[in-house]
Amino acid sequence: IRVAVVFGGRSSEHAISCVTAGNVLQAIDRDKYDVVPVGIAADGRWVLEVDDPSRHQITDTGHLPAVDAERATVALVQTDGGAGLVVSDPSAPPHALGDVDVVFPLLHGPWGEDGTIQGLLEMSDVRYVGSGVLASAVCMDKAFMKVVLTAAGLPVMPSETVTAREWASDPVAVRARVEQLGYPLFVKPARGGSSIGIAKAHGPDELDDALEEALAYDPKVLIEVSAEGAREIECGVLEKVGGGVEASLPAEIRVTGEHEFYDFAAKYLPGEHTELDVPADLPGDVADRMRQLAADAFVAAGCEGLARVDFFLMPDGSLVVNEINTMPGFTPLSMFPQMWAATGVEYGELIDRLLTLALQ
Ligand code: DAL
Ligand code: MG
Repeated sequence: IRVAVVFGGRSSEHAISCVTAGNVLQAIDRDKYDVVPVGIAADGRWVLEVDDPSRHQITDTGHLPAVDAERATVALVQTDGGAGLVVSDPSAPPHALGDVDVVFPLLHGPWGEDGTIQGLLEMSDVRYVGSGVLASAVCMDKAFMKVVLTAAGLPVMPSETVTAREWASDPVAVRARVEQLGYPLFVKPARGGSSIGIAKAHGPDELDDALEEALAYDPKVLIEVSAEGAREIECGVLEKVGGGVEASLPAEIRVTGEHEFYDFAAKYLPGEHTELDVPADLPGDVADRMRQLAADAFVAAGCEGLARVDFFLMPDGSLVVNEINTMPGFTPLSMFPQMWAATGVEYGELIDRLLTLALQ
């Protein structure tokens, strides 16, 4: 079975996607799958990347990997059998790499996790891992995700959406609207990931700075009530081969040191103080409730294949859905593969199941 593992991409999570891909390249069963690693450079160019997991790692010094834009370019083309890849190297005539049975779009953020590549793959009639166009787009946009979750009766934190145009034309009105939510507030690019561009604002000055920062990443920003005193707990969801969905054991993130929240450094950089409890130490009924809510959120958003649903366990014992990630990270520190391993699905088996689901 020929798998194109696609990674990198145009979003701010480019490096994390590379690390995710490195881990998948390492874990995929080579007896069963013939792997073609396709990198998308930061400028959007598709290239034939190297099949070497060690190249796609965060180093001890915190250096982040990137797709090498100088490599031979790759194009997805229609063939008699469906879709295939053609490589073109300036020094040689283009040559076909053969048909692709399935694409694993290991991309995080816009232009990859948001329905765009999913649309391209639908147009090309090639199978792919994970959610389709609509669910990917809805879950990428934190404002629309809340609309869908709320309509399904699932609990979310109160929030307001602010666009660059609103902020530029009437900041006084925007501030007045947003401050009704009450500080502290989380300010997030609506279509981001890995906490890039997210800041916590404790008062009006910080709100202005945080808005400017988030608007640098996305002209649409979500401002959300901070779940003060909440525990941050995540749950993996997988479809079952043959139908139905199941949720993993939940796991907890405990951020220590100077990180006020689970920011980019706490998530990925070496030497940072984030403790992951896999599985989370929770009363059985809370864990059960969370697993049910995770499966409900997955179904409500129309997800397919996999998703990681992130929760707040509030001080009063209630559960709030923070967000759904349709292509969660698979880095060594990422929760999704760790939660499934704790639930009895090892990394290689997880990859095999995702590809099997895509092909069924
Ligand atoms: N957006 C990152 C990759 C995650 O959700 O794991
Ligand atoms: Mg996310």
